[in-house]
Amino acid sequence: MVKASLLELVSSRRVIITVGSGGVGKTTTAAAVALAAARAGRRVLCLTIDPAKRLATSLGLGTMSHEAQLIDPAVIGLPPGSKGSLTAMMLDVRRTFDELVERYAENREARDRILNNTIYQQIAGSLAGTPEYMAMEKLYSLKDDARYDLIVLDTPPTSNAIDFLEAPDRMVAAMDSPTIQAFVQAFEKGGSLSLKLLSKAMAQVLSGLSKFTGAGFLESVASFLTDIQGLFGGFRERAAKVREELKAPSVAFVIVSSPDPMAVTEAMFFGEKLVEGGMRVEALVFNRVRKTEIVDVSSPARIANVLAEAGVEPHNELAAGVLKAYQDASIWARRDANEIARARREMSSVPRVVEVPAFDEDVYDVAALTRVAEIVAG
Ligand SMILES: Nc1ncnc2c1ncn2[C@@H]1O[C@H](COP(=O)(O)OP(=O)(O)OP(=O)(O)O)[C@@H](O)[C@H]1O
Ligand SMILES: [Mg+2]
Repeated sequence: MVKASLLELVSSRRVIITVGSGGVGKTTTAAAVALAAARAGRRVLCLTIDPAKRLATSLGLGTMSHEAQLIDPAVIGLPPGSKGSLTAMMLDVRRTFDELVERYAENREARDRILNNTIYQQIAGSLAGTPEYMAMEKLYSLKDDARYDLIVLDTPPTSNAIDFLEAPDRMVAAMDSPTIQAFVQAFEKGGSLSLKLLSKAMAQVLSGLSKFTGAGFLESVASFLTDIQGLFGGFRERAAKVREELKAPSVAFVIVSSPDPMAVTEAMFFGEKLVEGGMRVEALVFNRVRKTEIVDVSSPARIANVLAEAGVEPHNELAAGVLKAYQDASIWARRDANEIARARREMSSVPRVVEVPAFDEDVYDVAALTRVAEIVAG
């Protein structure tokens, strides 16, 4: 039986991760799920990535701090004495990476050399797969925190949803490729580097960093790469553990999709990959759905209603325009309904499906977020 609510999910799981392609509403859904769980009496930590500033402000998070911040229960409508609470934390990719370096550097000197290296400082936040990996890393370090019953993890805007799962490998591979190895060896052999020693491929790898040319640049890269070699073992092992943890029954993935055909196709593909990887897709959230019942102009009574709502007299010259707009909207709504029906058929093994309507405005305040939370949790 497919349930039309995530209430039982938000009430029982330890970790909930929202995933999906770019811009579909992952962050909004993560925040709504976290809010719904807090209202259901759970102590929730919501780990988000780049939430809209206005939404954060509306939740009373004046500064976009990367520390955990408890949200005032009154702001989110928790009754006095409620067991539930909502704490928000924003992912700081760079700082999380620094913490990993601190943990896995061979010694203090190596740690300081890496952290102070210009190249490290430039690439720590932008290397392929880094934000995705750091999101999982942060989750891993928080998952046993006894202050929270539930951790809701938002995932970064990836161009391709599947990037998320492969992120740790991609990140390690980016630094551990034969090209880079050769680079390091060339450095170690010569003690210093000349451009002549660099193969074409290596030059290409470095071309992304070409803005930092000049004396000492290559030495700086090489020294960084040599130091960071020592981290790989730790990173790999840790990435493997994180991945294992994601398969636990207490971890639920929520796929978010818009009703757009491309997004739906990607959501289905991503769902398959998660299941293949041994993870649990516990819910499907269709967001920004255009609803037929809202734009229905199929009967004279509905037409009269719609015009009255718009404040337009039936024989006014604007009436035709209003009706045309509604007819167009109802075509879109029917397309959305068809896409959702297709996705529901193809992903019939997902036990919960909810549809969040497209609101006239962005979800920028507590009131709008509460509406989404109520829809998500039934
Ligand atoms: N149901 C909705 N109705 C109207 N606006 C919405 C709805 N859901 C989300 N939005 C708005 O759409 C925008 C994108 O949403 P959100 O940031 O949650 O997406 P995302 O998947 O996290 O994006 P990214 O991939 O960039 O991280 C936001 O401005 C949000 O307020
Ligand atoms: Mg987001």
